[in-house]
Amino acid sequence: MATIMDTQADTPARSPRRPNTLGVHSLDRFVFSVPDLGEAERFYQAFGLDVRRDGNRLDLYARGHPHCWGSVHANGQPKRLQYLCFGAYEEDFEPLARRIRALGICDPHPLSDGKGIWLRDPDGTPLQVIVAPKVSPSVKAQPAVAPPVAVGKGAAPSRSGAPRARPRRLSHVLLFTPDVPRQIAFHSDVLGLRLSDRSGDIIAFMHAPHASEHHLVAFAKSGAPGLHHSSWDVGSIDDIGLGAEYMRAQGYVKGWGVGRHVLGSNYFYYVQDPWGSWAEYSFDIDFVPVDVDWPAADHPPEDSFYVWGPSVPDDFVVNREQRATVAA
Ligand SMILES: [Fe+2]
Repeated sequence: MATIMDTQADTPARSPRRPNTLGVHSLDRFVFSVPDLGEAERFYQAFGLDVRRDGNRLDLYARGHPHCWGSVHANGQPKRLQYLCFGAYEEDFEPLARRIRALGICDPHPLSDGKGIWLRDPDGTPLQVIVAPKVSPSVKAQPAVAPPVAVGKGAAPSRSGAPRARPRRLSHVLLFTPDVPRQIAFHSDVLGLRLSDRSGDIIAFMHAPHASEHHLVAFAKSGAPGLHHSSWDVGSIDDIGLGAEYMRAQGYVKGWGVGRHVLGSNYFYYVQDPWGSWAEYSFDIDFVPVDVDWPAADHPPEDSFYVWGPSVPDDFVVNREQRATVAA
């Protein structure tokens, strides 16, 4: 018996558009590679995603949502970010493509479907821009609705009867970069993303202009590019706790949380994946409506990482892809 009912209340009738503004509307997909696909399948299945295997590729879906949010490829090599795909409205594609051609396009990533137009970000990471339906939320996601509890009865399930956490969709990814300001400028100038908040040159959060959560992509300073974490929206703090507990029971014991971030305001639990990076359960992140200019600010890092929660694990910001690069 589920204690929380799933909701998909964040799909409006019409896709919103900020007037006279050119930019992508969604992070459509993130793609990375790992040594072994079986390990990825076990991890993301335990995390609560619907995983679909296709040869050497694992596609990541959220239950009850038709979109593929991420793909994991196996190549026997250490984990590595391969590319990001952004979605744009049809009328914006050519203007964006003109801008991208002027900067210089690149070949489609060999692991991709080859669609759309391709470029590299300043760190050399391939980016794909395609015409696609808007999959980022267009209104603030609503909490899941708990079923009513009869007066005189306990609301919590038994431990053995606890439901699984099921993420509703991808929220964002956080990438490592050697140069945070350079990534802010590039993603603003080329893709039309907007700065939400930052902590100096250490971390920055960016949203899309046509209604977006506080961040769909973020950048953290490191010696090399890489994927720090993917973040998945769940419907309640209870879901965060249920996910964390289930992952621990499955042997994924290293994590951080439960806590609450300052920038973005979301409640979180990060579980460490088999490759030393992280997957985040996220609930109640801030939202930037299409008619609001978010007051981007620069925050002191010691006062803006998290409001409450356990101490940060020592290896939380270790970039395993940098190690892999050095080792290679
Ligand atoms: Fe996050």
